[in-house]
Formats: sequence, structure tokens, C-alpha cells
Amino acid sequence: MALVTTTNMFKKAFEGNYAIGAFNINNMEIIQGIMDACAVHKSAVILQVSGGALKYARPTYLRKMVEAAVEDTGIDVALHLDHGSDLAQVKLAIASGFTSVMYDGSHFDYEENVRLTKEVVDYAHSKGVVVEAELGKLAGIEDAVSVSAADATYTDPDQAVDYVKRTGIDSLAIAIGTSHGAYKFKGDAKLDFERLESITKKLEDAGMHNFPIVLHGASAVDQDFVSMCNEFGGEIKGAKGIPLEMLRKAASMAVCKINMDTDLRLAMTGSIRKVLTQIPGEIDPRKYLGEARNNITKLVDGKITNVLGSANSSK
Ligand code: G3H
Ligand code: 13P
Ligand code: ZN
Repeated sequence: MALVTTTNMFKKAFEGNYAIGAFNINNMEIIQGIMDACAVHKSAVILQVSGGALKYARPTYLRKMVEAAVEDTGIDVALHLDHGSDLAQVKLAIASGFTSVMYDGSHFDYEENVRLTKEVVDYAHSKGVVVEAELGKLAGIEDAVSVSAADATYTDPDQAVDYVKRTGIDSLAIAIGTSHGAYKFKGDAKLDFERLESITKKLEDAGMHNFPIVLHGASAVDQDFVSMCNEFGGEIKGAKGIPLEMLRKAASMAVCKINMDTDLRLAMTGSIRKVLTQIPGEIDPRKYLGEARNNITKLVDGKITNVLGSANSSK
């Protein structure tokens, strides 16, 4: 059993009106928590690694832990670089065994984004690795890049077609109202589904059949885990994510990959806070990390069932 690319995952997801979950990983408990739920549902999954995670856990450890997860479960797993910053980082990920990379040039002007993305695509494709890239700007913070709500811009459908054609990317991350982090909406949640439809139709009309779309910043910000954090000493006030039914709708459309990290962070942090508060004398990391792992499994179980619809997508 080896790691796979996302090509076949996305083809089946598009045709089956579901999406594959892309979860950010940083350590063993997060990987096991995700995989335990995927194994129960026989759901394919994308385990993704940010530049920060690459530095924290180190590429070799990450790849070997993910290979262990594949050996343990037999589930289809793609190992993906999330928000790759430049060609050097993409090369490091590919040399470390990643099967999919994202290049995020969304903060550059359009022509520069096209040029740099194409460079990444040429390199990655020569190594059999698929490429996701982003057009439009999501609000929020990831790694060193921070985009204010005022600077966020939605993806232009005509430009999306030009971008996919000229770069040769395999999937496109779009901005339609989602944002990174725990504070996504001040008022009512709103996603621009008409824009998603228009992007999909224009890609189809331009000859890019069933082109896979990616949704970043798609945590629901589960209120049970927000409350768990706050009840046990945390201060996460006013956190709000994307409603489940909106994510489910996106998954039934052209969105084939849904990115979630914040929900995992909340589940892990809430669990650890709870155990350490309830049992102040506890010093065994397996007790609080084990609780975190169990709650991540419950979270991912809910995502597969209520959001992604990806059960039985792994063989
Ligand atoms: O989109 C960003 C993810 O939440 C990763 O966050 O860069 O802090 O690891 P990170
Ligand atoms: P969230 O912050 O909504 O979990 O988004 C994560 C993400 O998009 C990773 O690339
Ligand atoms: Zn993202």
C-alpha cells in the first residue's frame, strides 16, 4: 500500500457529489484520530502539512507516520503540502514523499501568480505529483501570511479559466466567503454559491471537464469544542465557522476537497484543557493526548457523515 495522488479521489468525488476531507496534521495523535474515523467509514482522506507543521514535526517523521497510517488502515491517503510558499518548499515536500502540493501565490499580482504557479506545475508533474493553487484571497491568517477582511477578494470566474489553462494545475482553490481561523463571520454566514456555479460552468465550457474545486477555511468551528475550551479556562469568544449545511451543499457541487484545521485545534485544545482541569494531578501525557485523539475521531466521524459524504470512497 502506498500513498496516492488526489487524481482518482477527485474524479470519483466530483461524479459522486461528495468531497474528500483535507485535515491538517502536526503530530501522531492527530493523524491517528483522523485515520480511526476514516477506517470505520472506509473514507479516502487527504492529510495536509503546512510550512509551520513541516518545521515543527519534520518531513521524514510526517511521511513515516502517514505511511504507518496507510499500512495500519489500508485507506487511500494523499500526503499534501498546504499553502506551499515557493518552489524550494515544494521541492522539499516532493523529495520527502508528498504526493500532492499546493502552491499559494494568491498574494502576488495575477501575472506573477501565473508565472510562479506554472514553474511549480512543471516541476511537480515531472515527478508525478499533482498541484493545487489558489486564485482570489481568503481573509485570515495562515503561517506568516495575514489577509484582512478588507483585502480579501473573491475569485473571478473568467480569470479562473485563464489561470487553470495557463498554469496546468490539477485543482483550484477559490475564495467565495470562507476564511482561515476561528473567527469567520461577524454577522450571518454567507457563501457565494452563484460564483461557485459560474466558475464550474465556465471551466466546463472551456473544456476542463469536472474540474475539482477546493474550499479552504472550511472549519465549522464546532461550538461544543469552543465551549469545552472556554469552560476549562480558555478564552475563545465569538468564534464562528461555516454552517454544516453550507459545507454539505458545496461538497455536492464541484468542491472536491474541503480543508479543515481549526476544528481539529479546538477539539485537541478543549480535550487537553478538560482533562488537566478535571484531574489537576494528571501528569501522564497519554491521558490528555488520548482524550484529544478520541475527540478528533468523533469530530472527523461527524465530518464524513454530515459534511463530506465520503464514506466508502476508499476502494
Ligand atoms: O491554512 C492554514 C492552516 O490552518 C495551517 O496553519 O500554518 O499555523 O500550521 P499553520
Ligand atoms: P480552517 O482554519 O477553517 O480550519 O481552514 C484550514 C485551511 O484552509 C488549511 O489550508
Ligand atoms: Zn488554507
